[in-house]
Amino acid sequence: MRNVYWIIIVLFLAILASCSHGTKKYRIGVSQCSDDIWRNKQNSELKIGAYFHDNVVLRFAAAYDSDERQIQQIDSLIDCGIDLLIVAPNQVSTISSAIDRAYDKGIPVIVFERKTSSKKYTAYMGADNYEMGRLMGEYIATRLNGKGKIMEVMGLKGSSPAIERHDGFVSAISQHPGIEVVSTLQGDWTEPTAYSIVKQWLDAHDGVDVDLVFGMNDRSAMGARKAFSEKGKKLPLFCGIDGLPGEDGGIRLVRDSLLEASYIYPTHGDQLIQLAVDILEGKPYKKETKFMSALVTHDNARVLKLESDEVIRQSKNIEQLHEKASGYMRELNSQRTISWLALVAIGLLLTLLLGIYMYYLQRAKIQDERRQMERDQLDFYTQVSHELRTPLTLIEGPLEQLAETPEIKNASEETNGIFSIVRRNTRHLTKLISKLLDAQVGAPSSSMDGDEIDAMIVTRPVDTVSSVDEIDENASTVLIVDDNADIRAYLNSILKGKYKVLEACDGQHGLEIAEELVPDIIVSDVMMPNMNGLEFCQSVKTNIITCHIPVILLTARALSEHQIEGYESGADAYITKPFSSDLLLARIANLLQSRHQLKDLWSAKLPAETASEQSESAVDYISDPFIERFKTILESKMGNSELSVEDLSREIGLSRVQLYRKIKAITGNTPVDLLRRARLQAAYQLLTTTAMTVSEIAYKVGFGSPSYFTKCYKDEYGTVPGECRKK
Ligand code: FRU
Repeated sequence: MRNVYWIIIVLFLAILASCSHGTKKYRIGVSQCSDDIWRNKQNSELKIGAYFHDNVVLRFAAAYDSDERQIQQIDSLIDCGIDLLIVAPNQVSTISSAIDRAYDKGIPVIVFERKTSSKKYTAYMGADNYEMGRLMGEYIATRLNGKGKIMEVMGLKGSSPAIERHDGFVSAISQHPGIEVVSTLQGDWTEPTAYSIVKQWLDAHDGVDVDLVFGMNDRSAMGARKAFSEKGKKLPLFCGIDGLPGEDGGIRLVRDSLLEASYIYPTHGDQLIQLAVDILEGKPYKKETKFMSALVTHDNARVLKLESDEVIRQSKNIEQLHEKASGYMRELNSQRTISWLALVAIGLLLTLLLGIYMYYLQRAKIQDERRQMERDQLDFYTQVSHELRTPLTLIEGPLEQLAETPEIKNASEETNGIFSIVRRNTRHLTKLISKLLDAQVGAPSSSMDGDEIDAMIVTRPVDTVSSVDEIDENASTVLIVDDNADIRAYLNSILKGKYKVLEACDGQHGLEIAEELVPDIIVSDVMMPNMNGLEFCQSVKTNIITCHIPVILLTARALSEHQIEGYESGADAYITKPFSSDLLLARIANLLQSRHQLKDLWSAKLPAETASEQSESAVDYISDPFIERFKTILESKMGNSELSVEDLSREIGLSRVQLYRKIKAITGNTPVDLLRRARLQAAYQLLTTTAMTVSEIAYKVGFGSPSYFTKCYKDEYGTVPGECRKK
């Protein structure tokens, strides 16, 4: 469910992101060298040009005719991360370094209107200033009928239009020898500078007449006009360049005869933007573009004024339209955002509702399943109840009938004992099944495991350990450890014919009996009070007296974890209840048998020649630490002919019975047998390696008399002691 939420949220975010990500934005930096009406006109054309491209953002900077300021401004435009630079360099060479930096950073550079000495630019756009100067020179020469005095007011020194316009002008004038340039004054494109330099010149050249002033732009021409007017002299003719529209523009000045002529210096900001976009979009473009233009004279000024006024009006309309369109766009965008937010909210709400619905659906399903399970469980137990009760009734009923028959009434005590065990436990089983079913019906989710059922069985601890009544000398001894007296009685009845049986009611008693009587095998329950079967088994296996005794764990705990626990405690076998008596008997016989095989290794009679050696290897094979210890004691003490089993058991720290049973269980021999065999083996050693007499050897190894030694030797090896010396 959580995943569904996440998927939906991510989907919404992706849709939102895809909506907000439009086409890539192009940031274009415009570095203007000056701030004047010509630049303003061009800037507004640039803006209008940008309206046609949704993805173009313009950043303007004006350097106010200062090289340093323009360098700084270009650097900060680069830092802002512009995608393209449009630059009108103040002078030809002074800001080339800044242009180079932009270009070297991979920013395309468009140089426009003024030129640069740098070769690092992408494209150039501008008018042909040389041609403009030349045409103006031609016009002036014609206007003056090839004769007259001219003053030239130059543009900013070092700026390319100033240089080119001058060159063009001079080339035209030089064709007319009647035309004399009385002065070439260095201006800087501004009206105040033109005014002051012309004023100065007039003050210095009072007697000199001027017929025409050529200002390199209209503002310079008007500055000169002002200086001449103030001087009160006859005004010469004034010509300029720029020919701008509007009230302050050159067209109006020509129309009103303030200027004699002007030349339209084209701005074409919209074309500049188109070039920039083409470069940015990787489209083909012209590296050098030159604009064509025309003269403004009294002949065309009126028409041009009308036309340019119309253009201005239309531009204003476009501005207004753009303003309106921008307003609509803003409104549309905010409405779009609201729509998306509403959509996201609806989506989330729907997801939430879906989530809640699915949650309830799931819950209902689980509840249905649970109810079904409970019904199935109940059905199962009801069915099992019938299945169990039927055969139980068929056991219990006939048993009750049998109990009343003379055969049972007159049967032996033993038969009666077994019969009453069967009856008692049948009744008990009936009760247990009822309890089990009651528990299920009352609390359907509760359960009873095997251990609980074990715990419900009424136990009757024994007060005394059953005596070892009918001991058959050769039979093995089995110790039964169980807190349930019936089980003990039942086990007893199974084992009684074949084994001597000992009984204990819990682990603690079991351990005491095992230590004292050292049985051959132990059969123990696991769940018992005081000391449970696992602890008991562990204690048996870690006790020096009992560690060799095989232990069979007998229990209702059938899970494999329980069995592992049993084996970890040291058990040799694990039999689960209910068990078959044959299986138990077979397991006991099997474990005892494997013990006998060990005994055989010890008790095998060995040929005299190899007795010593093979007997040694047999000892090594068994490698029982207890036997090792016993052997060492035997070897050190056997020289003493008075040595008794009591002496040996005292030495080893056990009672006579314990020692006897332990030695017998492990080796199959009695301690006395082992003592005699050890003496014989030592004697054999002496016979084959020393020159001692048979009598000396007999006494040395602890025989009371040489004749008894010879008898025992012959019994063991089948030859007389002297025999081995003959070879
Ligand atoms: C505007 C201007 C014009 C002139 C041009 C020369 O900044 O001064 O008046 O024609 O630049 O580059």
